[in-house]
Amino acid sequence: MSGSKSILVTGGVGYIGSHTVVALQNQGFDVVIADNLSNSHRFIIERITAISGVAPRFYEVDMCEKEQVRDLFRNEPGIVASIHFAALKAVGESVENPLLYYKNNLLSLINLLEVHSETGVNNLVFSSSCTVYGEPDTLPVTELSPIKAPLSPYGNTKQIGEEIIRDSVQNTSLRAIALRYFNPVGAHHSSLIGEFPSGTPNNLVPFITQTAIGKQKSLKVFGNDYSTPDGTCVRDYIHVEDVADAHVAAMKRLLETETGNFEVFNIGTGRGYTVFEVIRAFEEVSGMKLPYTIEPRRPGDIEKVYADTSLSNTILGWKARKNIMEMMSSAWAWEQKLAANK
Ligand code: NAD
Ligand code: WQD
Repeated sequence: MSGSKSILVTGGVGYIGSHTVVALQNQGFDVVIADNLSNSHRFIIERITAISGVAPRFYEVDMCEKEQVRDLFRNEPGIVASIHFAALKAVGESVENPLLYYKNNLLSLINLLEVHSETGVNNLVFSSSCTVYGEPDTLPVTELSPIKAPLSPYGNTKQIGEEIIRDSVQNTSLRAIALRYFNPVGAHHSSLIGEFPSGTPNNLVPFITQTAIGKQKSLKVFGNDYSTPDGTCVRDYIHVEDVADAHVAAMKRLLETETGNFEVFNIGTGRGYTVFEVIRAFEEVSGMKLPYTIEPRRPGDIEKVYADTSLSNTILGWKARKNIMEMMSSAWAWEQKLAANK
């Protein structure tokens, strides 16, 4: 229990959340984590403490259970803001089980918003995603680019989540910032925290590192017949530590400046890389030749997306600093650490 000014990080034991907790602590923030550990592991809390030297207060809470959320805020009266990472995020799973995603991702947000209102906590940062842009008409995408029909129930929970917040801040003292991440990859430079894909990874970079370590036989490249420089899809990959720093910048903006009720920012590097370029970057940092086969296109994949980051650079005062080589080397170091500790 604490009376000082605290930041609540829901989903703070997860991939991006854990990196954000460390970044907040390194900036002197007092951090409280609420997580139901549905897609993360308790030992990450000790790893966070080892990195920052500060133990975050942890509450095993299901954000979908409103009384648990109320109890958390009663036990932590110093909470002045929340960062809401807690969600399920597997696109394919959301197609197979849409109600699980709508219930978990929307009810957790609604409960948080209601308890914010009940307790007078007026600052919220929301985890959104570039998936709301779908297949963009023009590139790079800005925050004013059209929101497209969702490609999955997961993506729809992000669109609906933004709309719920936009409507909830009207005529209230709540102020919110949504951060639309592009493709977070890599791991903390300590290799103490990183991404824990459960089962076979869906995402490119963990599949690359698991192929290199021998957990996967070969990488499947989903299509090389797109209208891109080398035929493979283009994404704006961004180092997870840069994504974490963007949350610190957003939190400082909410706590230290007068902002509008609801602001949205693209969190990317502004540079797109093809799948082959990512593979080549990995091969360069690892000194390995990655086995891959060319497979048919993956349904639902968009061809090209990368961010216009001028708003987050100017208004948030944040800019991604790490390059693709640092993204790959940190991902590879993390995979090797996982293999050594198994
Ligand atoms: P993650 O699965 O590693 O972390 C999510 C955390 O939330 C996990 O620790 C999980 O246990 C927790 N959680 C889920 N449902 C909960 C609930 N009902 N109550 C309490 N805790 C709950 O995922 P991540 O990659 O760190 O993503 C964090 C956020 O960022 C998510 O909202 C995700 O949609 C969003 N996002 C992720 C990416 C990406 O590529 N990783 C891209 C864009 C947006
Ligand atoms: C990147 C590129 C694949 C795996 C997803 C979610 C998005 C967000 C980030 C949560 C694509 C290709 C991939 C593989 C491959 N998550 N690829 N072989 O699809 O851009 O975004 O994660 O918010 O919502 O959709 O990321 O890493 O899955 O794919 O060729 O084994 O790599 O076709 O072109 P994606 P990804």
